[in-house]
Amino acid sequence: MEKATLIRFSDVSYRYESDNETPLPLALKNINIDIKKGEFVAILGHNGSGKSTLAKLANAILMPESGKIYVNGMDTSDESLEYEIRQTVGVVFQNPDNQIVATIVEEDVAFGPENLGIEPSEIRKRVDEALKAVGMYEYRFHEPHKLSGGQKQRVAIAGIMAMRTDCIILDEPTAMLDPKGRKEVMAAMRKLNKELGIAVVLITHYMEEAVAADRVIVMDSGRIVLDGAPRDVFSNEEIIEKAGLELPESAKLALLLRRSGVNLPSGILTAEEFIEAFKFSVSGGAAK
Ligand SMILES: Nc1ncnc2c1ncn2[C@@H]1O[C@H](COP(=O)(O)OP(=O)(O)OP(=O)(O)O)[C@@H](O)[C@H]1O
Ligand SMILES: [Mg+2]
Repeated sequence: MEKATLIRFSDVSYRYESDNETPLPLALKNINIDIKKGEFVAILGHNGSGKSTLAKLANAILMPESGKIYVNGMDTSDESLEYEIRQTVGVVFQNPDNQIVATIVEEDVAFGPENLGIEPSEIRKRVDEALKAVGMYEYRFHEPHKLSGGQKQRVAIAGIMAMRTDCIILDEPTAMLDPKGRKEVMAAMRKLNKELGIAVVLITHYMEEAVAADRVIVMDSGRIVLDGAPRDVFSNEEIIEKAGLELPESAKLALLLRRSGVNLPSGILTAEEFIEAFKFSVSGGAAK
């Protein structure tokens, strides 16, 4: 069955306001995207390619210059729908410190649903549930500013979760984290997606994070240049390179070996796949 569309960009262009007479070039050009319920989508692109602009448009923080954006069928340019749109799509930004609003973890998570005017008993339930889902329940009475980066980011994710949005957009949530923090945040996101069916749109610079998504969108200079399953997207080596991106490490190594005559199939994305294909190749392709 075809999944329902959650966010639709229909021929969207966007331009930031210039501070002089010369208008700025378009930051986004004729973007068409359909994000479905329950999807896990990674968005890749070099600096300035338009990823954050996309996130802000999806959350009605910015309005398109032309084209339309629909969130669950709601037109984001209709101001009367802003509240409902933000209840459907939540955004977590790069710097966790800028997202902390309270002095106790559970109060921080309760902030969003409180603003929605939800019953205290229901808030209690949601806050506990969200903190458990991101593995931060035992920190509920801690001071957020004393947590590690990964923990702070998980609290920020719990805050959006407690609002029960159908979709969470994360704008480079792991950029300021160490490898351990990155793993924690990735695990929390995967759980939200797989167990709770929340659509996740992950903007990232890390190819390994994109490999784990159901779908990868590559942006270059305000346009979408690739959109598909990770294996299909990363088989377009030239477009990836032209977009100023690198292939995932294992794919890069496989490509280099293939070019130097080693018999490896295309479509290798992970270390595990690389090892299997490499073992098969060095055994002359005979062993299983
Ligand atoms: N407030 C602003 N005013 C003017 N131009 C802006 C503003 N914010 C972004 N831009 C420009 O719009 C374009 C897209 O920016 P955007 O922040 O969406 O890129 P990005 O892909 O998120 O980049 P990064 O990887 O650095 O976060 C860039 O050319 C950027 O310089
Ligand atoms: Mg950005």
